[in-house]
Amino acid sequence: MVASGKGGTGKSTLSVYLGARLAAQGKRVLLVELDSGLRSVDIIAGVCGRTVYDIEYIFSGRCDPDKAVVESPLFPGLSVISAPYSGGEIRPQALRVLANRMSSCFDYLLLDTAAGLGDAFKAACAAATMGLVVITPDPVTMRDGRIVADELFAAGLPSVRLIINKVMVGTFARNPVRDLDECIDTVGAQLIGVVPYSEELAAAAAAGTAPNPRLTAFTAVDHIARRILGEEVPLAVR
Ligand SMILES: Nc1ncnc2c1ncn2[C@@H]1O[C@H](COP(=O)(O)OP(=O)(O)OP(=O)(O)O)[C@@H](O)[C@H]1O
Ligand SMILES: [Mg+2]
Repeated sequence: MVASGKGGTGKSTLSVYLGARLAAQGKRVLLVELDSGLRSVDIIAGVCGRTVYDIEYIFSGRCDPDKAVVESPLFPGLSVISAPYSGGEIRPQALRVLANRMSSCFDYLLLDTAAGLGDAFKAACAAATMGLVVITPDPVTMRDGRIVADELFAAGLPSVRLIINKVMVGTFARNPVRDLDECIDTVGAQLIGVVPYSEELAAAAAAGTAPNPRLTAFTAVDHIARRILGEEVPLAVR
């Protein structure tokens, strides 16, 4: 599950690209967006307009889960279940049932949650085995990242890891935050990756196109995927 305290840290963007890179390693990946009324994964994954059913249809028993699964045309091996346009309750038990059912068809289930500790977060905690806390290098998202990480530890997730997103050259020169170590210490979770700020990445996400695979930010996400798969990948990204 991908979580953050504050909104806009990059959960949905990183969920899609993480799924894309896991899929590029031969894994079958299903990304479920748990953000009622605030759908965005469909655009980033290039499935906007192809989605007929969403997670709310599944949870309310109005459609079979398979019908709501849409394959990304941008990233072979990545499939998506979109969040509903309007709100809807996300129940932990229903999500667990869905996760169990999908585990026969997919190697990885990525749960992109809404910011904060609401229903989506609680439901994802009940189904997930790994929590990825996404922060940006600023005191507000760091402090809220700590709260989220603590909740994930308290929920008993076997693994809780930190992603620091939108890091720029000079970030720490004009920032009350000293360095990456301070980010890690504040959140209290082991780092799994640092993703640079990239306007090209944001532009690709907004346009629903595949980012240039040579982008440093995209490479950083690829490294996170490979670390999840158990590879030893050095942290430094040139
Ligand atoms: N590494 C990055 N560099 C530049 N922009 C980024 C990066 N990651 C994400 N963004 C941009 O930040 C904005 C918020 O990203 P995104 O929607 O993924 O965040 P979120 O955490 O899912 O937000 P929400 O809490 O509202 O669901 C988007 O405009 C996205 O393109
Ligand atoms: Mg989002």
